[in-house]
Amino acid sequence: MDNDLKMSLDGMVVVVSGASHGLGKSIAQQLATFGADLVLLARDRGRLEQVADELSGARGEILLLPCDVSVSEQVASAAERIRAWRGKVDVLVNNAGIPAPRTMEETTFEDWNSVLGVNLSGVFYLTRGLWDQLKAGGAGYVITVSGTAGLRGGGSPAYGATKFGLTGLTRSFAVAGAEHGIRVTTLYPGSMDTGWRGSQIGVTPRSESMDPDEVARYVAYLVRTPKEFVVNEAILNPSSAPWQ
Ligand SMILES: NC(=O)c1ccc[n+]([C@@H]2O[C@H](COP(=O)([O-])OP(=O)(O)OC[C@H]3O[C@@H](n4cnc5c(N)ncnc54)[C@H](OP(=O)(O)O)[C@@H]3O)[C@@H](O)[C@H]2O)c1
Repeated sequence: MDNDLKMSLDGMVVVVSGASHGLGKSIAQQLATFGADLVLLARDRGRLEQVADELSGARGEILLLPCDVSVSEQVASAAERIRAWRGKVDVLVNNAGIPAPRTMEETTFEDWNSVLGVNLSGVFYLTRGLWDQLKAGGAGYVITVSGTAGLRGGGSPAYGATKFGLTGLTRSFAVAGAEHGIRVTTLYPGSMDTGWRGSQIGVTPRSESMDPDEVARYVAYLVRTPKEFVVNEAILNPSSAPWQ
């Protein structure tokens, strides 16, 4: 078994959804420093361009793909753009996600549908849309960002439902992918200081929120591990607030 972490991701094609802000932007930066060719995907092209301009030390090429992951037709055409660009995907990071109202009373049917559309259907659409390109290289890797809300329950009905749903969905990816050499990891981060609308900042003390750059370093570590084993699931919390 090769025990060494890969020091370079040169020639590898990495797709990051929700790459225009927060954790996705940090992941893009981390993977860029290891030389990956990056597909940066989110809805807002302007913000993607800004992220691409700000990436430091990127050796690989960058493809910007404005796409709403909750719209299956947009995901299908994004997958075709990637096929035309490289014809394979080595790593997919399903990171795009939106927050949801916290209480039953605040959660409208529309909220329910839009949160499920992005956080759950979006992950299926993108992974399904890229599945044959993930199989192409014989050693694909799918990392999906859930959250501790997907373990705890009892909070926002829509948000919690999507993050719990991801556990079942990603375990299916893992079983289906194994025969094709595709590894699958589900991440369950606690609160991160990303500045997103759903962030716990304000109710969670800053000292109990993680720096997204540190979480992104762990993602870069995962994709560089030897392909003989897989981290199925990983729960990440600040050491000052385990099991938050
Ligand atoms: N922040 C936390 O405390 C925390 C804790 C646990 C888990 N998480 C999870 O971590 C992930 C990243 O969260 P974050 O805090 O980094 O969020 P963020 O800062 O709000 O960034 C979200 C990213 O997703 C993109 N996005 C949103 N809707 C999209 C759609 N329909 N299609 C494509 N892209 C879309 C956004 O770009 P556009 O608006 O341009 O599309 C943005 O790039 C999410 O899955 C979240 O649930 C966050």
